[in-house]
Amino acid sequence: MMTTLLKVEGIQTFIEQFHILQGVDFEAKQGEVTVLLGRNGAGKTTTLRSVMGLNPPQKGSVTFDGQNLVGLATYEIAKKGIGFVPEDQGVFGELTVEENMKVAMRKNDDASMARLDWILDLFPDLKTFWKKRGGNLSGGQKQMLAISRAYVNNSKLLLIDEPSKGLAPIMVEKVMDSIQQMKNETTIILVEQNFHMASTIGDCFYILDDGRTVHHGLMDELKENEELRRNYLGIA
Ligand SMILES: Nc1ncnc2c1ncn2[C@@H]1O[C@H](COP(=O)(O)OP(=O)(O)OP(=O)(O)O)[C@@H](O)[C@H]1O
Ligand SMILES: [Mg+2]
Repeated sequence: MMTTLLKVEGIQTFIEQFHILQGVDFEAKQGEVTVLLGRNGAGKTTTLRSVMGLNPPQKGSVTFDGQNLVGLATYEIAKKGIGFVPEDQGVFGELTVEENMKVAMRKNDDASMARLDWILDLFPDLKTFWKKRGGNLSGGQKQMLAISRAYVNNSKLLLIDEPSKGLAPIMVEKVMDSIQQMKNETTIILVEQNFHMASTIGDCFYILDDGRTVHHGLMDELKENEELRRNYLGIA
């Protein structure tokens, strides 16, 4: 039986006076990759930020591992075991790759060091550029660093916002491959407009439109449903 790790029910989120999320529902099952889809401005990033407490919802509930998250501070939510890879990657430009990793690591125990080794084997570029400043990395390398920073803390759940954005096709393949491998270790919620990536690694999907969840199902169903893709994603 697949257990639900994160459940989001009817969240409504305002940014300033704007009513951005007007009823978003979804759940992420343990061990799966759940993909959030939708056009630009649909509310995908705001949804992840609402889960992390960066834009807390005014209505609705967010339940992680049976515990309510609404009202907790972002650092408390992170400490419960949720890693967040934001759209802008959140890499410190003035710090080296090494320092970026050290700042991100909450523990220095053997398990964390083993995770660091594992992730550096997955992204050997980071080893090569270990002493280089974050600001001098390529877009793809920054993405790898951002994912590594979130992964190294043994997160039960990783939220990853558009990892393919701005990357060359070969880098997209690489990032995709790394997420495939992480899938064996953790549960993932992925926001991704690259349908090739979304459909290859996703188990199930939710479509957001105008701040609401409008469809959901298994990824295989979406692969067969051209109309749905055309109506809500602008792709066939
Ligand atoms: N700080 C803000 N102030 C006002 N409106 C905002 C703010 N942040 C986001 N919005 C609006 O909220 C809506 C949802 O934005 P969001 O970034 O969540 O969309 P998205 O689905 O992630 O889009 P994209 O695919 O372009 O990243 C958009 O209409 C956006 O303009
Ligand atoms: Mg976004």
